[in-house]
Amino acid sequence: MTRILAVDRDQVCHELTADPEGTLMEVLRDEGLGVEAVCGGCCSCATCHVHIDEAWLDRVGPAGDTEAELLQISAYFDARASRLSCQIRCVPELDGLRITVAPEE
Ligand code: FES
Repeated sequence: MTRILAVDRDQVCHELTADPEGTLMEVLRDEGLGVEAVCGGCCSCATCHVHIDEAWLDRVGPAGDTEAELLQISAYFDARASRLSCQIRCVPELDGLRITVAPEE
């Protein structure tokens, strides 16, 4: 399992345990951190927007083209830190990943 440290919209930090085969969106949604994931992970709604902690940016990597287009129209877009959590698999290399759920649009 992969440990995720997630700060919710009330600035409360949660330590979550994620399935390495699953996505970050799935664990955030299932643990009730306010991630709606309206499209179910199809990279078309941007309701799973998160900000990646600075220390993890290299390991998480950049957004894909479709993901980047969606993120850029978000009011809370951060060119360095924004990602759609449905596009991030919780692989063991991300054990200890720290993220913040983006504010609701
Ligand atoms: S769940 Fe819709 S874009 Fe991630």
